[in-house]
Amino acid sequence: MPDTSHTTRVATLKVGDHELELPILSPTAGPDCVDIRNLYGKTGVFTYDPSYTSTASCESTITFIDGDKGELLHRGYPIDQLAEKSHFLEVCYLLLYGDLPSAEQLEDFENRVTMHTMLHEQMQNFFRGFRRDAHPMAIMVGVVGAMSAFYHDSTDISDPWQREVASIRLIAKMPTIAAWAFKYSIGQPFVYPRNDLDYASSFLRMCFAVPAEDYVVDPILARAMDRIFTLHADHEQNASTSTVRLASSSGANPFACIAAGIACLWGPAHGGANQACLEMLKEIGTPDRIPEYIARAKDKDDPFRLMGFGHRVYKNFDPRAKVMKQSADEVLELMGVENNPTLQVAKELEAAALADPYFTEKKLFPNVDFYSGIILEAMGFPTSMFTPIFAVSRTVGWISQWKEQLSDPTMRIGRPRQLYTGAPKRDYVDVENR
Ligand code: SDX
Repeated sequence: MPDTSHTTRVATLKVGDHELELPILSPTAGPDCVDIRNLYGKTGVFTYDPSYTSTASCESTITFIDGDKGELLHRGYPIDQLAEKSHFLEVCYLLLYGDLPSAEQLEDFENRVTMHTMLHEQMQNFFRGFRRDAHPMAIMVGVVGAMSAFYHDSTDISDPWQREVASIRLIAKMPTIAAWAFKYSIGQPFVYPRNDLDYASSFLRMCFAVPAEDYVVDPILARAMDRIFTLHADHEQNASTSTVRLASSSGANPFACIAAGIACLWGPAHGGANQACLEMLKEIGTPDRIPEYIARAKDKDDPFRLMGFGHRVYKNFDPRAKVMKQSADEVLELMGVENNPTLQVAKELEAAALADPYFTEKKLFPNVDFYSGIILEAMGFPTSMFTPIFAVSRTVGWISQWKEQLSDPTMRIGRPRQLYTGAPKRDYVDVENR
């Protein structure tokens, strides 16, 4: 936690007869924070910030976003450098432990993850309890939550060793859970993970291999899959990460906390936007219909929004979208589908929106979800698998933030207050008198 004992700068707040000096906490980067932890105790008033636009919920050392510059740093390293030079499991190590690993540390970490990719065989029954047309996110919420009923030896959050085992298990098993949710939805047999393949390759094989023939992972798709995992790994205190932190503050077990994060990520304003964006691009269909949808996005009376556009923090390009757009060009060209009509609509829609003052004045740029679906569809995934893939990647971010919060000795249960505007106190009225 920030050491406020030496803080020299203060904010002065006058509330009624009270004049209060509030410490100002200085970050490594980003806005200063006014420490209001004693505000209510000293003045009897709350602050009001219902969507946390101006509120820091925690101190963190993991990820930093500069929304104005369009920069995303993981432990200080820019995402575009990590996407180009690193790979997902190395980024997992960086997020979890704070520094890039040595060659030996990386080999040990990758081996530990590889040895935990299988699911308890009895968990297959969970998948079979769902309807075939169940959304894979519904299955993932259920199966991940149920892991607390199968992995009792890694649910005690007070035991650092159990926290470590739960972390590795979740990172390792999420691809298997996502792949099996996909296989179940298309009526194909489950394919087991392979220890001789890297993380992304084993996931692709579990999704697309069938027992009837050999399956060789295309290295181009494996690299693209790994890059998509890297780009989605962590993102400060977004809605699903904040959900995981709040669930964790009650002492809930790690599997329950991650299941809560998966549920929150599913929303179309958050991780569900990649599915919604591709469905929007397909609904637009051809570039000549773009003006109609731009007009709808600008119409206050129309709830339609350009999916994959805008962001609470980025008021410039989402750096992940830049990498994703480049990857989309590369993957589709290498797959011989560079004339993909959906990619054409996406590029022309982006150009039209960024030429329109409505979007530029509101600083609405493409976000991570704008191009990801185009790549995933070209790789053979149905739109229903886009958010589960986001969840596979974000699990390391959720877990890293979960571990950071648990290691904070001052951590207390999160319990927001409210601005109550309901009925004043009144007495019960018997039904015959109403
Ligand atoms: C993710 O938080 C994270 O970090 C999330 C994420 C992560 O990695 O964890 O980055 C992943 O969730 C990316 C965002 C994916 N969602 C979408 O693409 C859905 C479409 N985008 C919007 O719903 C919206 O932009 C949000 C939800 C992303 C951000 O919402 P905010 O910050 O609450 O912004 P807002 O809704 O207050 O919008 C500000 C203005 C509004 O106009 P006014 O009321 O001020 O006149 O911009 C308009 C909005 O109407 N606006 C849009 C728009 N997004 C905002 N108008 C048209 N199309 C859009 N996409």
